[in-house]
Amino acid sequence: MTAPRRNNDHVFYRSPRKFYPTAERAEGIYIYDAEGKRYLDGSGGAVVVGIGHGVKEVSEAMTRQASRIAFAHGSQFTTEAAIELASKLVRFAPGGLTKVYFLSGGSEAIETAIKMARQYQIERGKPSKYKVISRWTSYHGNTLGALALSGHTGRRRHYLPLMQHTPHIAPAYCYRCPFGLLPEQCSLECAHDLEKTILYEGPDSVSAFLAEPIVGATAGALVPRDGYFQKIKEICDRYDVLLISDEVMTGMGRTGKNFGMDHWNVVPDMIVVGKGLSSGYTPIYSVIVKAAIHDAIKEGSGTFVHGHTYSQNPLSSAVASAVMDYLTKHDLVKKSAQMGQYLLEALQRLYRHAFAGDIRGRGLFAGIEFVKDRKTKAPFDPKVKLNALIANRAFEKGLITYPGGGGADGVNGDHLLLAPPLIITEKEIDTMVSILDETFADVSREVGKA
Ligand SMILES: Cc1ncc(COP(=O)(O)O)c(C=O)c1O
Repeated sequence: MTAPRRNNDHVFYRSPRKFYPTAERAEGIYIYDAEGKRYLDGSGGAVVVGIGHGVKEVSEAMTRQASRIAFAHGSQFTTEAAIELASKLVRFAPGGLTKVYFLSGGSEAIETAIKMARQYQIERGKPSKYKVISRWTSYHGNTLGALALSGHTGRRRHYLPLMQHTPHIAPAYCYRCPFGLLPEQCSLECAHDLEKTILYEGPDSVSAFLAEPIVGATAGALVPRDGYFQKIKEICDRYDVLLISDEVMTGMGRTGKNFGMDHWNVVPDMIVVGKGLSSGYTPIYSVIVKAAIHDAIKEGSGTFVHGHTYSQNPLSSAVASAVMDYLTKHDLVKKSAQMGQYLLEALQRLYRHAFAGDIRGRGLFAGIEFVKDRKTKAPFDPKVKLNALIANRAFEKGLITYPGGGGADGVNGDHLLLAPPLIITEKEIDTMVSILDETFADVSREVGKA
């Protein structure tokens, strides 16, 4: 038996016992490792890569900006690069969202949004409003504030003593309705759960509600029923609660519309966006907000009591600007809708594997949930590590996917997220699905034997 390969260097890896091949270069939808092996990036890393790898217009913009000015601190200067990107984002976002706050990480951006909501409430004379309600089966980041708002038991468990308790409501999870209802019995109980919780907590204490339009990392592309977010917005407005849309995964065309909320014509008060914003070329995120939020701070105390070293970074802004230009020039939002339809149809053939419980998604944002028993929807024992087994086997076969667990109840449940670059072709989707088909066959046999 050969010894397992290890990375013997000084990097503190996520899973120190796992072997990570060295990614050497990337082009289009492919990453190549140092041994020359090619991987189809079927998940854009962690739902990051939208325009594809190795776009030369982006590296040219990067060099141009770096040779002009790479850094100026946001407390001292503005830059043309940040101004230009902000106006592009405002044009890309729904009407009424007219100011953009820049950050370098998603968790940082989520915490910025909730602090901004809190300061907005203070500025308008409502200092009792501070609570942020979020949902179970959700992910908003790993820093302590963002993790407290996330609804994933496995990721929160170790850190609970360090976190502040915040209210969570039931997810919009039709495949496993938290209210035990069939689709024909549904009256959007999961949306009404927000109203109940606001009333229990006291509307005067609630500042904002935070949700992903289509849940990503914790359950695998959970698309809510039509009407859900319209109802949520109505409830938020009734109780004077801000709606924050976490579009870190679903923004920038990933689901076939500019933003996930656009599927239901709901305009949130704030949008948190990242990942596809720079398509992985640089770390940059932003919070796009309604004028009223910005103006309350401007006309009130005059300063948002917040800030990070790399907010408004000119180099990152220029890179994201070039990414947005590419996205628009190549009509990639529309392509995501078209190719997404093709992907969802192509994935249907995977139902031939008994453990494929639910295949769902919108645009090029798809999820496959696995079950031990299709009738009862019983998940696999987490000890089987089914999602990792599948992702590792697909990786060996040259396909990158984004696995996750805990969707069913926070601990149990396995799924796979698929989110290839928006430039993917039908032929390449067929290749992806064939590799998944082979992978599922291999793993079914293995799990059957276990
Ligand atoms: C919906 C959502 N929000 C926030 C985050 C946190 O982003 P980051 O990992 O950059 O902190 C993620 C990360 O995957 C996410 O999927």
